[in-house]
Amino acid sequence: MNKVTVFDHPLIQHKVTVMRDKETSSKEFRELVGEVAQLMCYEATRDLPLEEVEVETPVATAKARRISGKKLAVVPILRAGLGMVDAILTMIPNAKVGHIGLYRDPETLNPVKYYCKMPKDIAERDVIIVDPMLATGGSADAAIEFIKEYGCRHIKLMCIIGAPEGVARIRKNHPDVEIFVAALDEYLNDHGYIVPGLGDAGDRIFGTK
Ligand code: PRP
Ligand code: URA
Repeated sequence: MNKVTVFDHPLIQHKVTVMRDKETSSKEFRELVGEVAQLMCYEATRDLPLEEVEVETPVATAKARRISGKKLAVVPILRAGLGMVDAILTMIPNAKVGHIGLYRDPETLNPVKYYCKMPKDIAERDVIIVDPMLATGGSADAAIEFIKEYGCRHIKLMCIIGAPEGVARIRKNHPDVEIFVAALDEYLNDHGYIVPGLGDAGDRIFGTK
């Protein structure tokens, strides 16, 4: 079964708590999405391969290590995933970005695809799919499926809040995909919202409600 990492770092827990607060403004919420994504990125890239190099410091030659040319792509699920992208690119500036547009049909909760644009060489890249919310898991499941159709074999999923239902669905349908969530919540309500969650992440990032 795939590994699921739930973050217990105090900085992440604190920031997620502020995000949950319904009084937090869109501006602050947006900033926090980026900050949490950046902290999570640190752990999600822990297995990047390194190579030995020599570098001349002002004092001597140092035997040092650098990332060995691994190609990465960050793929946000639109809209809300966009809120995580810039922060991750700050950490991995050479990553390419692919976009998948999906929205949940409010009646069926099934994901509807409306946009998809990937880097040309996506099949050669390790992919990190980002979306603040993993609820039923329908959107992430569909996104992983699309990306696998391009030939990608190394995929990670990074979400800020996950529901047990969503995590279980990805583990069942994509046992090869490693999952990172900043918090694992209790359950989904009748409208498919994560409880206690933080509401509609897209609306809170973009101020559309
Ligand atoms: C939200 C969220 C995920 C999806 C999670 O997007 O950002 O993409 O719902 O739900 P699921 O796990 O049940 O599929 P939404 O459909 O509200 O679109 P938006 O990002 O455009 O607001
Ligand atoms: N999408 C959201 O934005 N929030 C939820 O709680 C569930 C799905």
